[in-house]
Amino acid sequence: MKVQALERVGDRLRLIDQTRLPGELVLKNIDNYKDVIRAIKRLEVRGAPAIGIAAAYVLAMAASNAERYDLAYLRIVGEELKGARPTAVNLSWAVDRMLTRAADLSGVSVEEAQTTLWVEAEAIHEEDRRMCMQIGQLGSGLINDSDTVLTHCNTGALATGGIGTALGVIYTCRNLGKRIRVFVDETRPLLQGARLTAWELLQEGIDTTLICDSTAGFLMKQGKIDHVIVGADRIARNGDTANKIGTYSLAVLAKEHNVPFYVAAPSSTFDDEIESGDRIVIEERVAGEVTSGFGKRTAPEGIAVYSPAFDVTPVRLISFFITNGEIKPGGRPPDLR
Ligand code: MRU
Repeated sequence: MKVQALERVGDRLRLIDQTRLPGELVLKNIDNYKDVIRAIKRLEVRGAPAIGIAAAYVLAMAASNAERYDLAYLRIVGEELKGARPTAVNLSWAVDRMLTRAADLSGVSVEEAQTTLWVEAEAIHEEDRRMCMQIGQLGSGLINDSDTVLTHCNTGALATGGIGTALGVIYTCRNLGKRIRVFVDETRPLLQGARLTAWELLQEGIDTTLICDSTAGFLMKQGKIDHVIVGADRIARNGDTANKIGTYSLAVLAKEHNVPFYVAAPSSTFDDEIESGDRIVIEERVAGEVTSGFGKRTAPEGIAVYSPAFDVTPVRLISFFITNGEIKPGGRPPDLR
């Protein structure tokens, strides 16, 4: 895997500015934590696990940017981070883990506190890398040689600290010698499928075909899709799953056409604090992301816009969860796979 979404370089963070892909591969070196928060908000770094890792580095960098160790200040930064992209639970999970570590450091020197926080952020990064491998290994068992997979948004190396979740399954299949064909939803409005997943899969030499989001049902009706695999931003205790807008429609289509529907996600995406998907906060994006595209306005001035970044797929539409520890059944009966 050649692509790495983000990387610690000393007291700085180097990240791929994903808003510039696929046209340009731009690496940004950031040494001020406020600029990393800005990058998270602008989706320069994105994908639930990757923004969790970035958030962890933000807290380490905030401690390094300051002259004295100030836990109260780190807590304020943590709150700002949580609000930056509220749906992905990995972000608040990483913030809480870093702040718990930070709370232990009151008696130590500033240098030791700073070092400890960088080490903790790197541990979060490394754990995500490992969880991606485990998801890939477990998920690959569900896919046969010559199968065709449909995926949505971007869940690969650009979205995580490792090979990815849903895309990690595909990469692992390929590494095991399985010939996999992938259809990629373009994923309106920000085109993470077209810009990022198509780019990643082509880099890896995977047989990939890009489709408009609205083509998925037609492909399933023709029997051309064997599996749908998506990632997740937050999974409630009952299994209801928030993921990129359009995921719910895909799950409904998959059920109608008897295509198994899998959610691939690390343990950091499971939110045991909320009972069901009704409680998941859905981030809303600005109108301009819908009314403009392709370098020009694509809708009339003055039109009202509704742009939720995510939707919630009820667990009854999910066949299996592919996690780093196990394949867990969702709520879809076995006869519907
Ligand atoms: O708005 P984005 O690009 O951050 O949304 C990303 C997704 O919805 C992914 O499917 C999800 O975060 C899982 S990434 C492994």
